[in-house]
Amino acid sequence: MTRRSVILGSGSALPARRLDNEELAKQVDTSDEWIVERTGIRSRYIAGEHETTGTLATAAAKAALAAAGLEARDIGLIVLATATPDQTFPATATKVQAALGIDDCVAFDVHAVCTGFLYALTVADSLLRSGTATKALVIGAETFSRILDWEDRGTCVLFGDGAGAIVLGAEDGERGILATKLHADGRHNDLLYVDGGPSTTGTVGKLRMKGREVFRHAVVNLAAVMGEVLDLAGLRAEDVDWVVPHQANARILDATARKLGLPPEKVVVTVDRHANTSAASVPLAFDTAVKDGRIKAGDVVVLEAMGGGFTWGAAVLRY
Ligand code: UT7
Repeated sequence: MTRRSVILGSGSALPARRLDNEELAKQVDTSDEWIVERTGIRSRYIAGEHETTGTLATAAAKAALAAAGLEARDIGLIVLATATPDQTFPATATKVQAALGIDDCVAFDVHAVCTGFLYALTVADSLLRSGTATKALVIGAETFSRILDWEDRGTCVLFGDGAGAIVLGAEDGERGILATKLHADGRHNDLLYVDGGPSTTGTVGKLRMKGREVFRHAVVNLAAVMGEVLDLAGLRAEDVDWVVPHQANARILDATARKLGLPPEKVVVTVDRHANTSAASVPLAFDTAVKDGRIKAGDVVVLEAMGGGFTWGAAVLRY
């Protein structure tokens, strides 16, 4: 028997305020037509004054614990992926830990921007299989609305806020994470970045992106890493029941699926409702497809993402 990290439950959380394209077009020089045609996005959620990455992450974590039928005290590890932490330090994972009332566990953030959830999942999987903990919360949570330049129509229409979480448990058997593959190439730092930081400007900064170049790299890298992870698991594209991609742009999702020969019906799409929520997008989409009954026990699911750095990665699991 092989020891694997099995998804025991998932949950998600969105801010109360939904902002659709028409309303956004009253504040920014854009149109519903342009946004839908170029990206597939129709609306996004924007965090209010009292909603933060930490509060959204905590709500998603509570929902995931409830779905798993577990108590917070069962958790020995929290790995939280975010590029928009509540504070520079302490890690937002420790804020979630405190909010859940867990006295002692391992808790830290990982930062790989939109690929953050894949990095967090890979780290948590390793720590579970090596015995550091038996149950983990893996969370992706972001409030990108706080780092957007609302004067830059090329970026501010693309992103939203939210959180998704899963509970992983170490079990012997056929279910669980079958393979993961991560990459980074720092030569592309300047194509997608934030123009501030504690050690440079002393400010939080705003998101900057050369969208067209990011798009080109995304399709090539995502198709390649999905092929790699399937090879590692000894599976073929035909074995895949669902792809849960990072939700950046509907055109990227279509182009990537086509490159792998996967029918569009197997691709979970939430970018229309949530826009790009960076590290939260994969677990938010995953939870959406579990809750609406698409992803079922035993299904083979591929998760994939690409983001600033560049970073990119994929995971394949049997749910
Ligand atoms: O999560 C990390 C990964 N991120 C991504 O994957 C994003 C990847 N990139 C993209 O999704 C696309 O490149 C965008 C959606 C960002 C842009 O689409 P595009 O087809 O590459 O458009 P573009 O940036 O080349 O802009 C085309 C035109 C420009 O006008 P001109 O110069 O042709 O007159 C822009 O000024 O569209 C204009 N434009 C807009 N018009 C209305 C740019 N943003 C907007 C806007 N509304 N919001």
